Amino acid sequence: MRPPLNGSSVSVGIKNMEEEKKTIGVRGLLAVAVVFCLCSLAVSTEETKQKQLRLKENGEFKILQVADMHYADGKTTPCTNVLPSEKVSCSDLNTTAFLHRMILAEKPDLIVFTGDNIYAADATDAARSLDAAFAPAISASIPWAAVLGNHDQQSNLSREGVMKHIVTLKHTLSQVNPAGVDLIDGFGNYNLEVHGVEGSGFENKSVLNLYFLDSGDYSKFPSISKYDWIKPSQQLWFQRTSLELQRAYMSKPEAQEGPAPGLAYFHIPLPEFTNVVNSSNYTGVKQEPISSASVNSGFFSTLVEAGDVKAVFNGHDHVNDFCGEYTGIQLCYAGGFGYHAYGKAGWARRARVVVATLEKTEEASWGPLKSIKTWKRLDDQNLSTIDVQVLWSNNTPGGT
Ligand SMILES: *[C@@H]1O[C@H](CO)[C@@H](O)[C@H](O)[C@H]1NC(C)=O
Ligand SMILES: *[C@@H]1O[C@H](CO)[C@@H](O)[C@H](O)[C@H]1NC(C)=O
Ligand SMILES: *[C@@H]1O[C@H](CO)[C@@H](O)[C@H](O)[C@H]1NC(C)=O
Ligand SMILES: *[C@@H]1O[C@H](CO)[C@@H](O)[C@H](O)[C@H]1NC(C)=O
Ligand SMILES: *[C@@H]1O[C@H](CO)[C@@H](O)[C@H](O)[C@H]1NC(C)=O
Ligand SMILES: *[C@@H]1O[C@H](CO)[C@@H](O)[C@H](O)[C@H]1NC(C)=O
Repeated sequence: MRPPLNGSSVSVGIKNMEEEKKTIGVRGLLAVAVVFCLCSLAVSTEETKQKQLRLKENGEFKILQVADMHYADGKTTPCTNVLPSEKVSCSDLNTTAFLHRMILAEKPDLIVFTGDNIYAADATDAARSLDAAFAPAISASIPWAAVLGNHDQQSNLSREGVMKHIVTLKHTLSQVNPAGVDLIDGFGNYNLEVHGVEGSGFENKSVLNLYFLDSGDYSKFPSISKYDWIKPSQQLWFQRTSLELQRAYMSKPEAQEGPAPGLAYFHIPLPEFTNVVNSSNYTGVKQEPISSASVNSGFFSTLVEAGDVKAVFNGHDHVNDFCGEYTGIQLCYAGGFGYHAYGKAGWARRARVVVATLEKTEEASWGPLKSIKTWKRLDDQNLSTIDVQVLWSNNTPGGT
C-alpha cells in the first residue's frame, strides 16, 4: 500500500466534481458528434507515406510521451497546484518551456501527445490553444502524433473539429481516422509504422507498430457514470490492422516467426490498471485513483488476443506515473506535463520517454527489435531521469 495523499487529495476531488458537471453539459453536443463521425473518414495517406518513420543508423527510435498539457490561453492562464512561491510568473508558458527543454534533452524521433492537450473549458479559441500547445514540436521539426482526451472539445471546436485542426498542423502524422474504414467511433484512431534502418534488410518492414485510439470523453448513457470507453468498432479496426501488420511482418523478405512489437497510445487508462495496482508490482507512484470508465469494454483482452502490443501508454490521472505488467502487457502512465493541469505542489511535472532498440545481425546489419526501455524526466533543475525500466525484450519468456 502507498501512503495516502496529502495536500493534493483536495484538488483531485474537485477535478472529479467538475467533470461530473461538464458531463451533463456536453452530452447533447456529443451525441451529434458521434453521428457525424460515420461520414468523415477519408484522410490522405500520401503525406504520411512521405514522412515514413524509421529507426536511425544507431538502431534506435525514441518516443517522447507528453500527457495532459491542459493548455489554455498562454501567458494569462495560471498554474495549478504549484508551491505558493512558484505561483507568480507561472503560466501555460512554463508548459511550453518544459516541452522545449525536453526536446533539447532527449532529441526524440517522435512526440506523442496523449490527450487533454488543451484544457478547452478555459480556452477562448480552441484552434489558437492547439497551435500554441504543439508549437515546440513544430518549431523543432519533429514528427508528432496526438490523440484526444476528455477536455480537448470543451472550447469552440468539437472533437471532430479539434482532430481536423490538428491534422492541418506542420510535422504532424496524426489522422482524423483511418482511411478505408467507413464506420468507427471517435476521432483520432490511426496507426503508424516504424520501419527498419535504411539500407538494412528490414528497410521496408514495420519493426515497431504504433496504435493511436480515441478513448472518448464521457459516457453518453445516464445509467453509466463517468468516462467513455473504447468501442467495438475501434477494437475491430485495431484487430484487423494488427492482423495485416503481422501478416506482412511474417512474410518475405525477412519473414519473421512472431509479430513485430506494438505500442498503444490513448488518454483514459483501462480498468486493468487496477490489476497492476493490486499486484503491487510496478515502477513509479500511484497517488490517486485509476479514473477508468466504470464499465470494461474489453479492449485489454482484445490486445492480449492480438498478441503484438507490449505496452499501453495513457495520461488522464496526472499524479500517477507508474508502469506495471499484467498478463504480458505493460500498462503505463506518463504523469502530468502541463502547469495548468491539476498536479501536486512540489512534485515535478514530468514526461515519459520510450526507446526501442534493434538487434545486430550476424552480418553486422540491423535485425528486428531487441528491446523497449522507458524512463521519465522531471521538470526540475537538471531534468532528472528517473525509473528506468525494460518494458519488453526479445528474450523475455513468451515475449515474442
Ligand atoms: C515558470 O517560468 C518562469 C519564467 O521563466 C520562471 O521564473 C518560473 O520559475 C517557472 N515556474 C515553474 C513552477 O517552473
Ligand atoms: C473560436 O473563438 C475565437 C475567439 O472568439 C474565434 O476567433 C474563432 O473564430 C472561433 N472558432 C470557431 C471555430 O468558431
Ligand atoms: C525496399 O523497397 C525499395 C523500393 O521499392 C527497393 O528498392 C529496395 O530494394 C527494398 N529493400 C529491401 C531490403 O527489400
Ligand atoms: C483490487 O483490490 C481491491 C481491494 O482489495 C478489490 O476490491 C478489487 O476487487 C481488486 N481488483 C482487481 C481487479 O483485482
Ligand atoms: C513484476 O513484474 C515484472 C515485469 O514487469 C516481472 O518480471 C516480475 O516477475 C514481477 N514480479 C512479481 C513478484 O510478480
Ligand atoms: C543538479 O545537478 C547539480 C550538479 O550535478 C547538483 O549539484 C544539484 O543538486 C542537482 N539539482 C537537483 C535538483 O537535482
